[in-house]
Amino acid sequence: MRAQALSVRCGGALEDIMSLTPVGFRRPDDPGRKVTTASLREQKLRHEPITCITAYDYATARLIDEAGVEMVLVGDSLAQTMLGYENTLSVTMDEMLHHVKAVRRGVKNALLIADMPYGSYQVDAKDAVVNATRFVKEGGAEVVKIEGGEKRADLIRHIIDAEIPVAGHIGLTPQSVNVMGGYKVQGKNLNGIEQLMRDAVALDRAGVACLYLEGIPREVAAMITAEVSTPTIGIGAGPECDGQVLVFHDIVNLTFAQPAKFVRRYGDAAGLITQAVQAFRADVRSHQYPSDEESYHLPKETKAALDTVLERKRAMRR
Ligand code: KIV
Repeated sequence: MRAQALSVRCGGALEDIMSLTPVGFRRPDDPGRKVTTASLREQKLRHEPITCITAYDYATARLIDEAGVEMVLVGDSLAQTMLGYENTLSVTMDEMLHHVKAVRRGVKNALLIADMPYGSYQVDAKDAVVNATRFVKEGGAEVVKIEGGEKRADLIRHIIDAEIPVAGHIGLTPQSVNVMGGYKVQGKNLNGIEQLMRDAVALDRAGVACLYLEGIPREVAAMITAEVSTPTIGIGAGPECDGQVLVFHDIVNLTFAQPAKFVRRYGDAAGLITQAVQAFRADVRSHQYPSDEESYHLPKETKAALDTVLERKRAMRR
């Protein structure tokens, strides 16, 4: 009844009115569409590939968002890419939050996902909900990501109960590096495949907003993608996933290491930065920088007055 009255007054169905509600942080002059967990599902149904890139700071996040990438992930990979740690295990909630806030300020249209760091959700469900809530309330994240398969299904339900969408992450889960005995492709034998299928189905049933598939054979990722209704986002999981994610530092060559097999480099930021820094240093040392055009000058009258004062001082010294 109320819906009908509204639709008559506003000339649209209630759904239309609801979908016009501003979501996120879009600038009023920005024609881009805000990506939501619902629009990702629609994209999967349309078989339109989804893109996701990691970002850890304002400038990079803004460039990725303005390029039209649908999902920006503040991954705990920032432990290595930004903070120089050996693996992802040492990064803390406060360090993650610091970067999520910066990325939030740069992202308008993309869906913003925050990675829950090691130790922030493994201890107990209450802790996990408190930490996930911090990412939403303080950091402005729209989704939180949790590593692990079926054993995380109940925890994921708890977090979703707190109105926080959750992204799952299965396969090669870097927070389990010590248990896996290294960064190894998962699901290479029949037992492993069965476990991955169970993990994927359990998380899909728990209601994850999307499912990251990392470091698994293409064939297994294709089976999971066909089986679950949630969008799958692959990294080292072959082309049949609903979307692909890469670490920003990998695609622009900022890792100081040989890239993994699945990484494609789209730029050479290391080369660009090195060249720019070396050129600056050379210009300063050869007195080429700054030039007169790159300097501020006194107004004519002030310069004349200053010259007079200096001349007078020189004359007195003589
Ligand atoms: O931390 C990260 O960057 C990730 C992606 C590799 C999925 O979890």
